[in-house]
Amino acid sequence: MKIQPAVQELDGGEFRTFMSSFPTGVAVVTTLDAAGKPLGFTCSSLCSLSLAPPLLLVCVNRASGTLGALRAHGAFAVNLLGESGRQVAEIFATPRSERFDAVPWHPTGPWSLPWLREHAHAVAECELREIHPGGDHVIVVGAVTGVRLGDGRATPLLRGLSRYSVWPG
Ligand SMILES: Cc1cc2nc3c(=O)[nH]c(=O)nc-3n(C[C@H](O)[C@H](O)[C@H](O)COP(=O)(O)O)c2cc1C
Repeated sequence: MKIQPAVQELDGGEFRTFMSSFPTGVAVVTTLDAAGKPLGFTCSSLCSLSLAPPLLLVCVNRASGTLGALRAHGAFAVNLLGESGRQVAEIFATPRSERFDAVPWHPTGPWSLPWLREHAHAVAECELREIHPGGDHVIVVGAVTGVRLGDGRATPLLRGLSRYSVWPG
């Protein structure tokens, strides 16, 4: 008989602390609603999934106000924030309706998705491929149809240990 380890209910705080010990970059995932209004949220669960074809994934809270529009529009952009993006990260993580009033954006690529040009050192345009369940989040898989890269001198914004930092120059 195979002995299974006892499954303990892990405290959410402990899990958060564990994950915050794994620093990441910071992105803003953007899309458009049916009226063409930009929507977006701060996201650190970005992960490369496949090289051929180029696929990435982001994990999105089921309660996200952006998720429905992303699903309906079928495309999204991943804006990688740089050093100047700390306040942008806060704006896009705080419940407020007019985030784009405070942050300039420009349409990018054939999908005309919101590109936070002044604060993102790179942006990827993605076509929605799959959405998988994942607890209180969903796993959104996007096919990367285009990227705009900076000049390589950007200092990416980082998040870990419950604070922001920047990549050392
Ligand atoms: C550094 C940072 C990273 C975050 N990463 C994610 C993430 O990967 N997925 C997610 O669903 N929410 C993430 N959030 C929380 C959302 O940004 C936040 O809940 C936001 O208000 C959601 O906006 P929406 O409901 O308008 O989509 C993150 C917040 C911060 C500050």
